[in-house]
Amino acid sequence: MTVSSHPRQKPRQLSPAHDWWRQASVYQIYPRSFHDSNGDGLGDLPGITAKVPYLRKLGIDAVWLSPFYPSALADGGYDVDDYRNVDPRLGTLADFDEMTAALHEAGIKLIVDIVPNHSSDRHEWFREALASPAGSPARDRYIFRDGLGPDGSEPPSDWQSIFGGSAWERITEPDGTPGQWYLHLFAKEQPDFNWDNQEVREDFLTTLRFWADRGVDGFRVDVAHGLTKHLPETLPAEIEMPGMASEHGQHLFWDRDEVHDIYAQWRQVFNEYDPPRMAVAEAWVHPSRRARYASPEGLGQAFNFDLLTADFDAADFRSSITRNLAEADATGASSTWVFSNHDVVRHPTRYGLSAAPVPEAAAETETGTPMAGGAHDGKAWLLAGAPEHELDRDLGLARAKAATLLMLALPGSAYLYQGEELGLHEVTDIPDGQRQDPAFFRNPGVDIGRDGCRVPLPWDADHTAFGFSETGAHLPQPQWFSKVAAELQERNPRSTLNLYRKALWLRQILQGPEELQWIEEDDPQVLHFARPQGWHSVTNFGDKPVPLPAGLVLLSSGVLPQDGTLRPATTVWMTR
Ligand code: NOJ
Repeated sequence: MTVSSHPRQKPRQLSPAHDWWRQASVYQIYPRSFHDSNGDGLGDLPGITAKVPYLRKLGIDAVWLSPFYPSALADGGYDVDDYRNVDPRLGTLADFDEMTAALHEAGIKLIVDIVPNHSSDRHEWFREALASPAGSPARDRYIFRDGLGPDGSEPPSDWQSIFGGSAWERITEPDGTPGQWYLHLFAKEQPDFNWDNQEVREDFLTTLRFWADRGVDGFRVDVAHGLTKHLPETLPAEIEMPGMASEHGQHLFWDRDEVHDIYAQWRQVFNEYDPPRMAVAEAWVHPSRRARYASPEGLGQAFNFDLLTADFDAADFRSSITRNLAEADATGASSTWVFSNHDVVRHPTRYGLSAAPVPEAAAETETGTPMAGGAHDGKAWLLAGAPEHELDRDLGLARAKAATLLMLALPGSAYLYQGEELGLHEVTDIPDGQRQDPAFFRNPGVDIGRDGCRVPLPWDADHTAFGFSETGAHLPQPQWFSKVAAELQERNPRSTLNLYRKALWLRQILQGPEELQWIEEDDPQVLHFARPQGWHSVTNFGDKPVPLPAGLVLLSSGVLPQDGTLRPATTVWMTR
């Protein structure tokens, strides 16, 4: 056995009050699917407040709240009508304050989603733009262009939106004639802001202060790499553009260097507060360019989706971990880890399907453009390409639990997605007529979209809508939810919920400096690392039992036999 170290290169003085986020466990709440308090079938903020005891018992450090702003839900709330208000279906600002106070009272921080790349087409500024003439200051807040062709009836370029179809939409001018086109990199209900416009910049500073003043502890920045755009007079064809995940920041709208001027300004706002507000970037960029988003002069932390996109494979996991720890060292940020969120197929299902062949169409998208927008990276093609019977649910869940335990032992922040603590699989059989995701509507027959991971949670097996609501759920819940409801799992000491609870509590106790040492095992399918407090994590990625290293077992993601072996798809935590 040999040991290779990954100590921090530049140890710095950390302060628990300021640096709480560096190794936090952050639980993502997709509010419309979490818990409904008023029986309208949509989860809401009082529903979250009611579940604070559950969150406290889970042992998380922070909640990341996906958009709760007024929205027509053309993209699950990522189409924001008003950045400084609460969707009336989800509650009021007073409910928001109550929820924040309840979370804080329970020792849980609050991170809110902020969506600066685009507003909704119902935002007052966009309505004003439609009512104003071409070239007006109101239009300048968005990206309008004349169409091509003699009557301007062709879009200004052939660019495709992330959700499929043209990235341009034509408007009707105030006088009723067909008019200019606006850019929407996502759905047509999500017009892109023009970040060269000073009013846009100022308004977001006001929004950040609005929520920070209300006690919000941090921000998750949606499409952080998309804000600044350089659009020449003559727009190149899509095929002429450099790769979207370009290493050199040459793309016309993804990951341009100028975007960091915005975040430097945001950082000044964050630092006006004590403790400074934190931020985490959703930036689907080339790994070599992620560091700037995570720098202390910028947002401070950035998601890496490397483990999320990796197969359940020891070598893949090890190389992503090593790379990301080195990256974090270089910037002074802490690493981030995530397996599931509201955009991707839940990880038990991904791991249960991983033997399925990659369909041809999907193989193209995997290496093509979707990395830039992120929303298509959930391997939804796995579901389109592999019918339900090819899913090995038990294997998928065993691997997911093993992977999660490994992740929770890593230095840095762990981001968890609601329902993963129940071991939920993706819901794969939502009827087409009940789907909501624009990715489904804009790619008929190709992409089933992201609704399968957004189905309202099962709280109680014996109640209407499995305890999510008094009435029903806005997306259909499958019958198998009755076997995985939270209340059942509470009572079963071997449930996934209780595994998460034990792991999250132990993590809080064992967490030390952000350092990791690899311990080399003979079998390449085994990943073994140690943290400074003598905390070891050992994962068997292979398909045969392996000898369990010596030590005292603290927790195991699966059954631990008496014969001194570690079963396949299992992680143990030990002290030595
Ligand atoms: C990323 C979000 O996570 C996703 O849900 C959304 O569709 C896009 N950004 C557009 O806002």
